[in-house]
Amino acid sequence: MSQILLRGATWQHAGRRTPAISDIDIRVERGERILLAGDSGSGKSTLLSALAGVLGGDDEGTLRGELTINAAAVGLVLQDPDSQVIASRVGDDVAFGCENLGLPREEIWRRVHQAMEMVGLDLSLEHPTARLSGGQKQRLALAGVIAMGAEVILLDEPTANLDPQGAADVVAAVDHVVKETGATLIVIEHNYTQWEHVLNRAIVLEHGKLIYDGEVAPAVAAR
Ligand SMILES: Nc1ncnc2c1ncn2[C@@H]1O[C@H](COP(=O)(O)OP(=O)(O)OP(=O)(O)O)[C@@H](O)[C@H]1O
Ligand SMILES: [Mg+2]
Repeated sequence: MSQILLRGATWQHAGRRTPAISDIDIRVERGERILLAGDSGSGKSTLLSALAGVLGGDDEGTLRGELTINAAAVGLVLQDPDSQVIASRVGDDVAFGCENLGLPREEIWRRVHQAMEMVGLDLSLEHPTARLSGGQKQRLALAGVIAMGAEVILLDEPTANLDPQGAADVVAAVDHVVKETGATLIVIEHNYTQWEHVLNRAIVLEHGKLIYDGEVAPAVAAR
């Protein structure tokens, strides 16, 4: 059984005349590492939101087609580092999602330590989140979804607001995390070159339609 299966997936925002994504067919196996590319407005973020299950209700738009995800948890990390920080201390921030899962305390803190180590955040649990750099905040968000046991990791331009070092640290952390956990990765990025060694498949959208699904190199070369 495939981990993710989309058949004819279509989403039309309420009040829009054309769908943001239309008739998308995608099959994803566990552990694939996929670049999601396409011009601005082509529907990349909409597709990622669909996979994360955060498209919104009937009042926000219309969803058609079939969408199946076989994963214990799906984690989404967005572009803006600041908007994703939840708690004032690093440990509480990583623990937040686990707490919502209602896990026992010892299990939560075991996961928090493990997740912080996996993303390369060598900080005390009391470290103030306000003092983190952008790249550290993105790795903190990543640690949060790892701690929750995400088997699918969705990243929407996670390095767009970072300096080169911060971006490189995030890419390295994601690379390490997917190797350690075997999680599936789908990442939207305009700066492909820094991700190329991590990825093994590319999907390209144009005007809401899937126009390419295959190897990374030809997709990147064509852009
Ligand atoms: N909340 C919304 N309400 C109405 N239309 C929207 C909404 N969000 C996105 N859209 C429209 O849906 C289409 C796809 O947008 P989406 O954000 O998925 O594109 P994208 O490929 O992620 O673009 P970018 O590279 O600029 O982030 C666009 O035409 C956009 O204007
Ligand atoms: Mg987008």
